[in-house]
Amino acid sequence: MRKKIVAANWKMNLTLAQGEQLVNDIVNAGIKLAEDQVVVIAPPFPYLLKVKQLIRNYPGICLAAQNCYSEKSGAYTGEISAEMLQSVGADYVILGHSERREYFHETNAQLAKKIDLALANGLQPIFCCGEPLEVRKAETQNAYVAQQLQESLFHLDAAALKNVVIAYEPIWAIGTGLTASAQQAQDMHAFIRAQIAEKYGREAALGISILYGGSAKPSNARELFACADVDGGLIGGASLIAADFTAIIQSF
Ligand code: 13P
Repeated sequence: MRKKIVAANWKMNLTLAQGEQLVNDIVNAGIKLAEDQVVVIAPPFPYLLKVKQLIRNYPGICLAAQNCYSEKSGAYTGEISAEMLQSVGADYVILGHSERREYFHETNAQLAKKIDLALANGLQPIFCCGEPLEVRKAETQNAYVAQQLQESLFHLDAAALKNVVIAYEPIWAIGTGLTASAQQAQDMHAFIRAQIAEKYGREAALGISILYGGSAKPSNARELFACADVDGGLIGGASLIAADFTAIIQSF
């Protein structure tokens, strides 16, 4: 059965002390996770080790980084490799977030290299895809997302793809308060699953977790997570508030 995942993407927010407080509040909330349920926390790089320590007694809570570099190692001042993330205990790495694509000009081809390095180092990529508003308005979002999948993921073999989590994040819904409707999310998630089925077969498609991201909050999480092809969420703003994030986790 595929995993149900609620992942916190803190982005560039919180001091170390604030982050520690937030993690402590989440682990002390006494949430009972089901066998197939996973919580992922993606703090900024300098806090990874500390957060790893804070969650070590909570097997259902995993650690993610928000990015890694597309080369193995070497003279890339300021960059962080997949191997480094693995060495500090990261389980997952978010790759291809729309903010990285927009502000740091990450391309589908570069993301394919990052995906390979993450997998080679035992990390599960949380691969983000999703269309900007003009593409949604033109109703060409399916072709847009299909191209992102093809150019960054579909070089993988079926065994490698099993370790990938996909996050659909329509750019027009990120940080805008404008959430995709449950129907819009379900339609795109079903489309993504169908693309995977076409390339890798039905069993592979049924095994892959597809998360929704974009202004997810306690008031809409339940409806989104109830959709057949929505396997959880990648949460930005609401993941910075312990009560909101725990309420979202409990929305399954
Ligand atoms: P918001 O939840 O703040 O809209 O951000 C979503 C997101 O980008 C998660 O990666």
